[in-house]
Amino acid sequence: MATKITDNVIEMKPLSPKDSKVRKQDFRVSERKFPMSNLVERNRIIHALDVKTKEKAVAMAGAVREYVDAIKISAPLAFKHELADLIGGIKKQANLPILACFKVADIPKMSGEIMEVAMDAGADGITVHGMFGRDTIKACIDVANPRGVGVFVVTEMSHPGALEFNQPVGEKIAKMARDLGASGIVAPATRPARVKRYREIIGNNMLIISPGIGPQGANLGDAIKAGANFEIIGRLIYNSPDPAEAARKISLQLKKRLEGIRVKV
Ligand code: C5P
Repeated sequence: MATKITDNVIEMKPLSPKDSKVRKQDFRVSERKFPMSNLVERNRIIHALDVKTKEKAVAMAGAVREYVDAIKISAPLAFKHELADLIGGIKKQANLPILACFKVADIPKMSGEIMEVAMDAGADGITVHGMFGRDTIKACIDVANPRGVGVFVVTEMSHPGALEFNQPVGEKIAKMARDLGASGIVAPATRPARVKRYREIIGNNMLIISPGIGPQGANLGDAIKAGANFEIIGRLIYNSPDPAEAARKISLQLKKRLEGIRVKV
């Protein structure tokens, strides 16, 4: 099956009978125990649910839940709603782990407090910026790990501006995240060679989650081939006229692209 991904549009040829076989088998299930252990690699997709309202988010999560392994929520949606209500609503509908992509970036005290608020509301994992130093990351991990909540440290953003200040320190951030015991890192699918480098640095005991597929320019599957565990996909799914069908096809396509590839974690 050939897939052409352009801005917000997925063009796919009809599925062959072989595709349904691929759909039935789990690609890989990690045996590793880590905070956010409810994040399991079945589809290897985290859906970035960047829609505008809670009602849309809940409906979308329910529609795509079979084809993704977690739901990621971001600040714009979270700012509009009572957080526990938002996360609770999505979980009730989708029964999937929630990654609160708040990219925490403050002094240690305030970063820890942001973490507490997200955890109290039901987040299973939280993203934290790596650029602001060891004390901030440690404060986040210190409050999250005992509660079984995953801290995902952003090493390098996926957009072009990340080359300016962020990329030059990305490898140092990855080492720091590894040494402090983060659950994983966020690395750019838009630069698979960088994902490969980050995997070399952190080894096989941490997760890599990678955004940037489709509108940001990355090809589906390239980040996982380079060593990521999950690809984060937003607009390709929620902007589709039929998000459930888009998620189903993307999940199938990804499994086909990754047949035979295993990342040791
Ligand atoms: O729509 P799209 O698939 O590009 O969405 C990507 C998602 O991943 C957005 O929610 C964005 O905030 C997030 N993200 C990213 N690049 C990073 C970290 C997070 O695009 N480095």
